[in-house]
Amino acid sequence: MTEWWRSAVLYEIYVRSFADSNGDGIGDLNGIRSRLSYLRELGVDGIWLTPFYTSPGADHGYDVADYTDVDPQFGTLDDFDALVATAHDLDLRVVVDIVPNHTSSEHPWFRNALSSPNHPDRARYVFRPGRNGGPPNNWTSAFGGSAWTLDAGSGEFYLHFFAPEQHDLDWHNDDVRRDFEDVLRFWFDRGVDGFRVDVAQALFKAQDLRDMHEPVPRTWHADWVTAVNQPELHPLYRRWREVSSEYPGERMYVGEIVLRNQEAVAEYVRPDELQLAFNFTLLWEEWDAESMRETIDRTRVALDAVGATSTWVFENHDVTRLPTRYGGADAGLRRARAAALLLLALPGTAFLYQGQELGLEEVELRDDERQDPIFFRTNGARLGRDGCRVPIPWEGGAPPFGFTTGTPWLRMPDEWSRLTAAAQERDAASTLALYRAALALRRDRAALRDGAFEWRDGARGTLVFARTRDGETIVCAVNTGDEAVGLPAGELLLASDASVGGALPPDTAAWLREEH
Ligand code: NOJ
Ligand code: CA
Repeated sequence: MTEWWRSAVLYEIYVRSFADSNGDGIGDLNGIRSRLSYLRELGVDGIWLTPFYTSPGADHGYDVADYTDVDPQFGTLDDFDALVATAHDLDLRVVVDIVPNHTSSEHPWFRNALSSPNHPDRARYVFRPGRNGGPPNNWTSAFGGSAWTLDAGSGEFYLHFFAPEQHDLDWHNDDVRRDFEDVLRFWFDRGVDGFRVDVAQALFKAQDLRDMHEPVPRTWHADWVTAVNQPELHPLYRRWREVSSEYPGERMYVGEIVLRNQEAVAEYVRPDELQLAFNFTLLWEEWDAESMRETIDRTRVALDAVGATSTWVFENHDVTRLPTRYGGADAGLRRARAAALLLLALPGTAFLYQGQELGLEEVELRDDERQDPIFFRTNGARLGRDGCRVPIPWEGGAPPFGFTTGTPWLRMPDEWSRLTAAAQERDAASTLALYRAALALRRDRAALRDGAFEWRDGARGTLVFARTRDGETIVCAVNTGDEAVGLPAGELLLASDASVGGALPPDTAAWLREEH
């Protein structure tokens, strides 16, 4: 067993926005296939594809109407098979999303559920009578507003933790649990290497539907949402683990467990449950060495205790781009580049989000360009996630930068002409070149990839740690402070900025090989 997923770098592809093959302005599976060699050159170990299943698109694919087919917008099952085959030829693993918490309103189960209060499929969802003329309890949707919508036909309310077009399934229902095993098998049979489990901590809801007493509106992480994180999840994931073990190769699951408390997350990655859980703690942290160090330690202690691997995430399709979070413009990018060396030197599995390797910033869209249901359900109080989902600029001097021959589904900024993949390929100082060099070193040097971890003393405002294996030690030093600090001893392998030399200036990072 190699347990490849323990030190892999997985690259998230937001399918709508990666590459469009047929000029309709929307990314698709054939587009992805045509760009896989770029990912091979980048040096990642595999891809995670966001949902490409049949969907009316109320949450751009996270509202699934058929779990075992490809939406015509994205291609066909044959296109999917071709994509997996090409990826595997290039030695890239393929992880796909599964969205078990909710179905689309267009799913046949939900249509049946609405057709009659006695239809057996109604029991697959959470329909309840209201309370005092309103919804059954005070639960709120993560996208704003109540988590309940009235089904006028029956006078009952149905539950939706996200948009009203995303109906939460009742995982206490035997048919739901059985049918999802078939979905897992369908894609395992087609050769996928794993699943990313959407909203993995929320499938079962507290059955008494008691009110939540915590403050509303909800924060993004769900630690205090008493409706979720229920004990029934653990036998479910044990069962899923058994299903994956029936397949050759090492198939894996990575759960989207949106909890800050890493002891709680660790319960999901015990040896017979999911292999990995996203760890969003660094993503929620400021650019500050002390708090990042605390977060790293907290994660490692909690996950080591169950023998699980830590994972590290700075970006995904739900959050503001990293250079923007770190202040934007040159300073933001400088920090994001330093964070790249931190991310790829930490022990465990790293996740990259498409465009992170290009140093893309969040795009400021106009209100009339926005599409995310979060924007509409909060009446614009929350801008939503469109700004990090703008399509990838591949080449050329003007939008759509080779993403499509048509009109991209979200406007691409003119300034991205400097940031296209092609432009950055020609520039040895680019963010893309930095990522490529870092990933190449991580592949070549076992110390970086799976060496033992140890903190080193460093000045205030810095993170300094070593990774050691087979007699080789590589030190990663990151300076989040306001003043330059001395560079640890050793041969400089890679620096996040050209100014790194005798010293490590503010907002930079370096990898050094220690002389033994
Ligand atoms: C988490 C996904 O990452 C997000 O994009 C989606 O809106 C929700 N789950 C609901 O499926
Ligand atoms: Ca297309």
